[in-house]
Amino acid sequence: MSIQPVTRLPRGTPQAASPPRLNVARIREDFPILRQKIHGKPLVYLDNAATAQKPQVVLDVVNRFYKTENSNVHRGVHWLSQKATEDYEAARVKVQRFLNAAQAREIIFVRGTTEGINLVAQSFGRAHVRAGDEIVISHMEHHSNIVPWQILCEEKGAVLRVVPISDRGEFLFEEYEKLLNERTRLVSVVHLSNSLGTINPVRKIIELAHSKNIPVLVDGAQAVPHINVDVQELDCDFYTFSGHKLYGPTGIGVLYGKAGLLEAMPPYQGGGDMISSVTFEKTTYNVLPHKFEAGTPHIAGVIGLGAALDYLTAAGLDTVAAHEHQLLQYATEAVQDIAGLRLIGTAREKAGVLAFVMDNAHPHDIGQILDQEGVAIRTGHHCCQPVMDRFGVPATARASLGIYNTKEDIDALVAGLHKVKEMFG
Ligand SMILES: Cc1ncc(COP(=O)(O)O)c(C=O)c1O
Repeated sequence: MSIQPVTRLPRGTPQAASPPRLNVARIREDFPILRQKIHGKPLVYLDNAATAQKPQVVLDVVNRFYKTENSNVHRGVHWLSQKATEDYEAARVKVQRFLNAAQAREIIFVRGTTEGINLVAQSFGRAHVRAGDEIVISHMEHHSNIVPWQILCEEKGAVLRVVPISDRGEFLFEEYEKLLNERTRLVSVVHLSNSLGTINPVRKIIELAHSKNIPVLVDGAQAVPHINVDVQELDCDFYTFSGHKLYGPTGIGVLYGKAGLLEAMPPYQGGGDMISSVTFEKTTYNVLPHKFEAGTPHIAGVIGLGAALDYLTAAGLDTVAAHEHQLLQYATEAVQDIAGLRLIGTAREKAGVLAFVMDNAHPHDIGQILDQEGVAIRTGHHCCQPVMDRFGVPATARASLGIYNTKEDIDALVAGLHKVKEMFG
């Protein structure tokens, strides 16, 4: 069986001058959880696509918020409330810079990628999608970029169209071209696939959709920890990601939307903070971004996310991307020696994810044996059942990389896989 090596660096990784080397030993010191032993073995954490670990600075910022400034935002005149509001809004500006959004009011805080997509499906979808209209997604989407559109299509009598993928797990652009038509209301695609590692040509996807006046949402859940994202350069209409995959807290995420589109969209949820005035006869809504942030937000999460962005920015995303690319290449080559192992996802542009199946060993067994070695990977369908169907497997084993992973981590993974091979033949 031939396994295609990873040949190209992710977009955003400088090709000419190599970026400075990441000081991984120093980085690892920042993550207290990595000092643990699991089943008596040093923890090898390779489940970063599910969620990433948190550096001390994020833990400290969240702790300090609750210890010294806990208060509600946007409502109080007292010192604590003003300080909390200042830090909350400062984090919004950090996100704006991180994504290179034109304005801070284009950054909406949500619970995560899932909520970001549901917000667009329910708000933009409610306003713009009618019976017979079409929404285009790809075959490699996470369930959170499938189900919200199915719910919308069912409500509206609209149709979900799916761009097929190749045997390597690449987006079939010519098929995409054929699917766009005058009934298409929105394209929603993943930037970096969590089940395959494929980096999609989102710039090209957006360009084509825009030539037909179709807006595009990009699911950036997996992309932001690995690729420099510039929403103005991409020219995407919506971009969404989760804080917890980016070394930030759980329960917080971001929806970026172009101001003009967000302005024209109805609110997603009603409640406090999203209004300008309320009477029983008529309510008027607050300005952006508050129109989409009903109720008390996850203030500590937002501030923690800001700290995570500072951390990643200081490490340098290009440096991180180059480090992870080398590791992925190393891992891809190392598993070639394991007879009966088949990689699922061999795209030419790929990052962060090594998914595979092995003859005679169910992914669940692989995961359990590796766990005994202290190696944490994920097994299952990774919320991508259509991808499993496409490759004719019930599940895969998936190792996914983060900033603190090392060649030694990959060696431990490969040694564990050799054990699996011995046990299951
Ligand atoms: C590509 C992709 N999209 C969306 C999601 C959903 O993210 P969350 O559960 O943080 O909302 C995930 C999570 O694994 C993902 O990998």
